Amino acid sequence: MTLDSPIAGPVLGIESSCDESAAAVLDPAGNVLAERLISQSREHAPYGGIVPEIAARAHLAYLPDLVREAMTEAGVGYHDLAAIAATAGPGLIGGLIVGSQVAKGIALAAGCRYLAINHLEAHALTPRLPGLGGAAFPYLLLLVSGGHSQWVAVEGVGRYRLLGQTIDDAAGEAFDKVGKLLGLTWPGGPALERLAAGGDPLRFHFPRPLAGRPGCDLSFSGLKTAVAQAAARFPEGALPRADAADIAASFQRAVVEVLADRARHAIGLFARQHAEGRLLVVSGGVAANRAVRSALAEAASDFGFSLLAPPARLCTDNAVMVGWAGIERLRLGMVNGLDAPARPRWPLEELSR
Ligand code: KG4
Ligand code: ZN
Repeated sequence: MTLDSPIAGPVLGIESSCDESAAAVLDPAGNVLAERLISQSREHAPYGGIVPEIAARAHLAYLPDLVREAMTEAGVGYHDLAAIAATAGPGLIGGLIVGSQVAKGIALAAGCRYLAINHLEAHALTPRLPGLGGAAFPYLLLLVSGGHSQWVAVEGVGRYRLLGQTIDDAAGEAFDKVGKLLGLTWPGGPALERLAAGGDPLRFHFPRPLAGRPGCDLSFSGLKTAVAQAAARFPEGALPRADAADIAASFQRAVVEVLADRARHAIGLFARQHAEGRLLVVSGGVAANRAVRSALAEAASDFGFSLLAPPARLCTDNAVMVGWAGIERLRLGMVNGLDAPARPRWPLEELSR
């Protein structure tokens, strides 16, 4: 296969790295023909977090039907597929093995290509989907999810430069932990955003970790501790809703201000290396937060950048982004053998070597 060679048929994408089981079928241009997704939050909510073994078993139970339904809706036969792209890492090893084995099994039976996709690369390439306008390289990506918080200069397929990242918790993890402290349902982010809407963001003075420091690293664990201390001042199990709303609003304000400060630093770093880049993309579950989006949009526009925030269904984990990353790789002839392993740890920068 040569550079930018045409793709012979549709691509099936499979996602199973965390707690979303998903399958999607895309045509060779990247148009979505069908997508199916089951969030496992109901399975994990009683435990207040993801239980890896439950996640792996749920992927095994859900994925075969999701794949079948997506293929039927797309009107695509297995032998029509050009390739099957599955998330091979980073993530929870059980789920990664389930998803990539399903993909390899179908690829073997259908005689098509297998693509081992890096989940972070799939998030990074999402803004290039034709349905989102097909962003041109280079652009600056802020990936803020339950597992990751990082700034990446996206220079090409397989070409990523890490500009900064969290030195402790991920942003979504901080939302989830604070949500738990406030007695909200898991995952905490969406419920916390709703609660914060009715609270006073100026009542509690929480720290803005790393704000103003050089570089664009992030930190959230000190903020989380400060919130825990504020909540501990109320008798156990008796935090009035109005006070909880003030804590939520003050916490969210701190996160938003930190992200806006770090965005200014990250854009400065990015712009020095990429004079032609004018786009900031935010992805990952925390990108669904409206206060986060509007603060980032403001920071971006101060530098003449625009902000692209994909719709929530493409910001959170999904199989469309996996299929699309597969198409980007397939176009460049970057395919994998069936012996490609699942990799629980797989930093984005390793793809650039
Ligand atoms: O990208 P994602 O679906 O899964 C991974 O972690 O890979 O992100 C989930 C994270 C959770 O931590 C969740 O609490 C957070 O995104 N989240 C939000 C919001 N919606 C989801 N955080 C803040 N505000 C939201 N509206
Ligand atoms: Zn993700």
